[in-house]
Amino acid sequence: NWSMANFIEIESQKIRQGVGNRNVLCALSGGVDSSVVAALIHQAIGNQLTCVFVDHGLLRKHEADAVMDTFRDEFHMNVIKIDAKDRFLEKLAGVSDPEQKRKIIGNEFIYVFDEEASKLEQMDFLAQGTLYTDIIESGTETAQTIKSHHNVGGLPEHMEFDLIEPLNTLFKDEVRELGLQLGLPEEIVWRQPFPGPGLAIRILGEVTEEKLTIVRESDAILRDEIAKAGLDQEIWQYFTVLPNIKSVGVMGDSRTYDHTIAIRAVTSVDGMTSDWARIPLDVLEKISTRMVNEVEQINRVVYDVTSKPPSTIEWE
Ligand code: XMP
Repeated sequence: NWSMANFIEIESQKIRQGVGNRNVLCALSGGVDSSVVAALIHQAIGNQLTCVFVDHGLLRKHEADAVMDTFRDEFHMNVIKIDAKDRFLEKLAGVSDPEQKRKIIGNEFIYVFDEEASKLEQMDFLAQGTLYTDIIESGTETAQTIKSHHNVGGLPEHMEFDLIEPLNTLFKDEVRELGLQLGLPEEIVWRQPFPGPGLAIRILGEVTEEKLTIVRESDAILRDEIAKAGLDQEIWQYFTVLPNIKSVGVMGDSRTYDHTIAIRAVTSVDGMTSDWARIPLDVLEKISTRMVNEVEQINRVVYDVTSKPPSTIEWE
């Protein structure tokens, strides 16, 4: 007689028993999995949970505020937001290789998280949004809510925690259902996948604040128009990419020499393969007109019509 309500009750019980009067730390990203884990654990142990949300400055427009509105203001959770934009941008300066950018962002994330965790009172547990599929893929572990003494992949040696992984018997659709039951907003529960390195891998080559603004503003227009057209649940992922090329245009009586922005929108089941989304032409027209009119330094909009394979979903 499995039901989501039962699941919440049983897991909460396990979490309370396992944690006792100790404290749990969670890295909140605003993505579906970490959001649901945080909401579930908070329901079980309230203020014994502390969430750390690292804003690396590579998020989408309004994303950081939305995370804080939901978790701090609505759910009244302990959420510490670290504004680390400058640190990340400094580290990324002059770097144009995609894998190098990923490595820098991943490492910096851990430094910031570690630094913040060391300022807190003793945290014995780390909550993670591991799903059943992650366990199958890694092949070795068994699904337990709490695992003792784990060195978490990627974290420094001294950061040893007991792990809490209450989602590790669930599939993605069950996690979404759980999120809805826990009262999370639809924007979070149905959020499209967003890569950890964020907008940094949607700017080809070097990341600068100026380029981040172009990609962030154009992305906001795309998301707005896709939502207005009612296509947001049909398209797996949709975003803009700054290919870092400039071309000639004309505005009024004068010649422009500005950036091209690319729209990437794909349908997919699991991200492993994908097809380009057939966005209606009138919707594309609206999107293009708005981007050129509203975003400074864009004078050309192109649409990526390749599937995966041979392309990937992201451009880097
Ligand atoms: P690709 O571009 O490889 O992307 O077709 C497949 C899915 O993975 C996401 N992706 C990432 N996610 N860190 C992440 O957390 C990354 O470095 C990364 N690179 C790609 C991508 O958004 C898509 O959903």
